[in-house]
Amino acid sequence: MRLAKRASHETPRRTRRGRRVVGAAFAALLGAAVLAPAAPAAADAPLRDHAAQQGFEIGAAIAPNHLQNDSQYADLAATEFNAATPENAMKWSVTEPSRNQFSFGQADAFMDFAQANNQKVRGHTLVWHSQLPSWVENGNFSRSELLSIMENHIDQVAGRYAGEIAYWDVANEIFLGDGSWRDSVFYRTLGPDFVAEALRMTAEADPNAELWLNDYSIDGINAKSDAYYNLIQDLIAQGVPIDGIGLQAHLINGQVPSSMQQNIQRFADLGIKVAITELDVRIQMPASQSELEQQARDYRAVMDACMNVNGCIGVTVWGVSDQYSWVPDTFEGQGAPLLFNENYQPKPAYDAVHEALGGTSDGGGDDGGGDDGGGDDGGGTSGPCAVSYSAANEWNTGFTGQITVTNNGGSALNGWELQFDFPSGQQLSNGWNAQWSQSGSTVTATNTSWNSTLAAGGSVSIGFNASHSGSNAEPESFTLNGQSCSVS
Ligand code: G3I
Repeated sequence: MRLAKRASHETPRRTRRGRRVVGAAFAALLGAAVLAPAAPAAADAPLRDHAAQQGFEIGAAIAPNHLQNDSQYADLAATEFNAATPENAMKWSVTEPSRNQFSFGQADAFMDFAQANNQKVRGHTLVWHSQLPSWVENGNFSRSELLSIMENHIDQVAGRYAGEIAYWDVANEIFLGDGSWRDSVFYRTLGPDFVAEALRMTAEADPNAELWLNDYSIDGINAKSDAYYNLIQDLIAQGVPIDGIGLQAHLINGQVPSSMQQNIQRFADLGIKVAITELDVRIQMPASQSELEQQARDYRAVMDACMNVNGCIGVTVWGVSDQYSWVPDTFEGQGAPLLFNENYQPKPAYDAVHEALGGTSDGGGDDGGGDDGGGDDGGGTSGPCAVSYSAANEWNTGFTGQITVTNNGGSALNGWELQFDFPSGQQLSNGWNAQWSQSGSTVTATNTSWNSTLAAGGSVSIGFNASHSGSNAEPESFTLNGQSCSVS
């Protein structure tokens, strides 16, 4: 029945079959190298390299509009994180603003980026009282009509990305602080059953996705997290599919709940997974150095609470840099909640997360402007461009190469192409943050759609995996758009 019904929705759906195959093949190719590298990550490697070493996910909420407009944002989003959640792009108001009129431009752009960077995707979110278009929020529906609206929405959205999304936040923020049900069109019309219905509908639309619930202020043990604990026990007892609980963790500086690890453990003991899904730690502005250090301790406490529990699979931060966080718009006078500041420099919180994952405590984040894999080295001397090249991760027959290219010219490059020769027979297998190819010994990396502009003085970090047969000499010269670069 549902298969036949889904076929009738084919028309508005973009042909994703080709992309899905490409995405899956890309993930399969990169999966082994990125999620379980054969050799230890260099001490100052990006967060995702250390996370992969531990089989852990370090994610960020990502917004496709910033990917297009801000290469520093896109660069950090790709380089530092091995998991991604669309901050707004898959919400109901974006994907189905009018009844049965679906719009997937933003969601597709997000998926393209996540797949190109081999990031595990958390779909966010299918059934939520907020960012719900008024035709749903204020509709006066019968039970059967609302069920069919929900089913169509889930079918179209989860069905479109079936096989490509690791976890779906199926229902979001369904309880109030005292553990009672939140009023919403779903609860009013369908009662508490709307959650089980949504979980079953998502399981049908994408049998491969894990099905999660997600909420804020359930990070420690309290009335609200108790309500989830009880609900999940009931769902399991009723045979309703449920795979995980997301603790959002929108925290206030200095206020990590002391029962966080115990809370994570009790959910894991139910046999479901747990993740920190939207971590940020907000500070009263302007943030002092001691507050930034407190924030670093808070990030570390959350990382430890998750990493100490077997079923806790990862931590996602709710944004890439302080530049675009939702916090100042919602909490007047508060801000600076993330790992990178508004100039994309790593904060003490970055170092704390880096260290929790097994990297150095100075994982690139000195605040006084040092060499940090995420930023502009500023040290390019002569020549129109500067390149730094490193075999960050090397094992018997292969290595991961990292390259930072800086445009030292006086104007932005709109489109760029980097070329170099492998000197000792190395063979490219795959790469990220550029379109990669190899012909003979010559390797070409061309910009992607989201990092095509390389600002004057700006840098882009790109990377690849390659094989070698014992000798792994470094390329000696590089050209950017045909011009020779200085090499460091
Ligand atoms: O896109 C419009 C833009 O066209 C318009 O000019 C502008 C004017 O204000 O608004 C833009 O939309 C905003 C949207 O973010 C994209 O920036 C909305 O007003 C704004 O309400 C919306 O906020 C989002 C918020 O969810 C909505 O509740 C935040 O970005 C997003 O970070 C936040 O994320 C939620 C999670 O989904 C669930 N958990 C809590 C978390 C934080 O609130």
